Amino acid sequence: MDYRKIISGLINDPLVTADDIQIAAEGHGDYALPCFKYARELRKAPPAIAAEFASRIPDNDIVERAEVAGGYLNFSLKRETMVRETMREYSDFDGLRKANAGKTVCIDYSSINIAKPFHIGHLMSTAIGGSLYRIYKYLGWKAVGINHLGDWGTQFGKLLAAYNEWGDKTKKLTLGDMLSLYVRFTEESEKDPALAERGRTEFLKIERGDAEAVKTYELFKATTLEEVNKVYDRLGIKFDSYNGEAFYNDKMQPIIDELKAKGLTEVSDGALIVRLDDYGMPPCLIERSDGASLYATRDLAAAQYRADNYKFDKCLYVVATQQNLHFRQLFKVLELMGREWAKAMVHVQFGMVSYEGQPLSTRHGHVVFLSDVIENSVEKARRIIQDKNPDLSDKDGVAEKVGVGAVMFFALGTQRIKDVDFNYDKVLSFEGETAPYLQYTHARCESVIAKGGGRPETFEPSALTDDEAYAVVKMLSAFRDTVSEAAEKYEPSIIARYLIDLAQSYNRFYIANRVVTEDKTLTAARLALTAAVSDVLKEGLKLLLTDAPDRM
Ligand code: ARG
Repeated sequence: MDYRKIISGLINDPLVTADDIQIAAEGHGDYALPCFKYARELRKAPPAIAAEFASRIPDNDIVERAEVAGGYLNFSLKRETMVRETMREYSDFDGLRKANAGKTVCIDYSSINIAKPFHIGHLMSTAIGGSLYRIYKYLGWKAVGINHLGDWGTQFGKLLAAYNEWGDKTKKLTLGDMLSLYVRFTEESEKDPALAERGRTEFLKIERGDAEAVKTYELFKATTLEEVNKVYDRLGIKFDSYNGEAFYNDKMQPIIDELKAKGLTEVSDGALIVRLDDYGMPPCLIERSDGASLYATRDLAAAQYRADNYKFDKCLYVVATQQNLHFRQLFKVLELMGREWAKAMVHVQFGMVSYEGQPLSTRHGHVVFLSDVIENSVEKARRIIQDKNPDLSDKDGVAEKVGVGAVMFFALGTQRIKDVDFNYDKVLSFEGETAPYLQYTHARCESVIAKGGGRPETFEPSALTDDEAYAVVKMLSAFRDTVSEAAEKYEPSIIARYLIDLAQSYNRFYIANRVVTEDKTLTAARLALTAAVSDVLKEGLKLLLTDAPDRM
């Protein structure tokens, strides 16, 4: 039941919409309507407005009391009704899914660079994008996950030259080899212009499709993907497309032609640009003076390709804040080209990550590989589990879930625009606002349920109207809205915050009450509540790329 809608319906005033109704603060009933914003229109003080609204509410099955408190009107619902309805439908997403059926969202995320380290800086895009992918699917959308690979550019010529020069062709190439080859090339080519030249010729060869050069370039790509795929598998991350920058090599010309034909371009210092002065932005570079195309041009072609092929309703780019200008330019140019769908494109940006208090910089050699972070986290989780519960079966499986979950929750638990610092002790704490805390609460629920003889088939709602149980029910009733809101705001942290609040409210209930008692009616009701919490924690964590083990 949508209580906000019902309450606004009961007030029955054209000024009051369902969105005006808020969840009440602790101790102020269940829902609240702040009346301040109607004061001007109604020429009355907010408390008087609240009183007026209160007097209009007819007898009904939902609202027990409506009380004026300052400029607020607070609503207490009939607890039994609320409990019965919530427990019946808290996890029923059918309506939402039906409403979203047929909608498509493209999500460009992770989007790694070939032959470059897959480092902790990519964690955010990978986790936020991967989570949004699951959230949208959960809500009935068709989601298209796109790894827009950084697989084109002159650096591949350099790498190729280095590989031909120094590469050990007798053993299997690794990402680490490619990194050191590239570093060596950069160093030596500074002293040796002939080497630098060879880098350029090799790139030309790749561009012209020289069989040998392309074969090696493909090897670089395959080697990188093989290593990153291991991480993706471990995180349960999926993509529907790996079309990266190179894929658009032959798809840019029509865009460039159209930009010219529409008079949007200008030649400046030999480069082709779109001026964006009128929009307070520097020009968008379309073609360099040497004819090389640019990041932006590829993204224009990629956007067109996505619009044509996926007919998206939304197209998200989960990329760091640093690229904000790039995306504003991209969306503006598409708009100037008359693309209606440019309105449906969103830069889902996020802040910076530091590692144990240290800023990260690939350039200055402070690279922290994502695979190492995950491995360390799992290893530390294993030690904690060994310590806390040495007799646990499948300790490795549980350690994997806890270790991975801790890293995922780190990336997803904070509002994405904020900068975050990764710290093992913090993300692995069982007491903080962490994945292990949620996983532990879930496992506690499961063990209570097992002790009580399993999930009850029926129960008596009136047995859940005491304050602690009711507080939990209220949290459960917010699950669907929470998932929807997370999708609307592209903000998985909304789900993270919610799960923490739910777990805390359940733990308050658990501390105050015995679940399994002599009283069968009470036991069944409390078990049902416990099962509901357990299920929502599990489902919610899945949306945050985290598995919840039943025992830990
Ligand atoms: N590969 C780029 C980077 O690491 C991110 C690409 C983001 N997606 C895009 N369509 N531009 O910075």
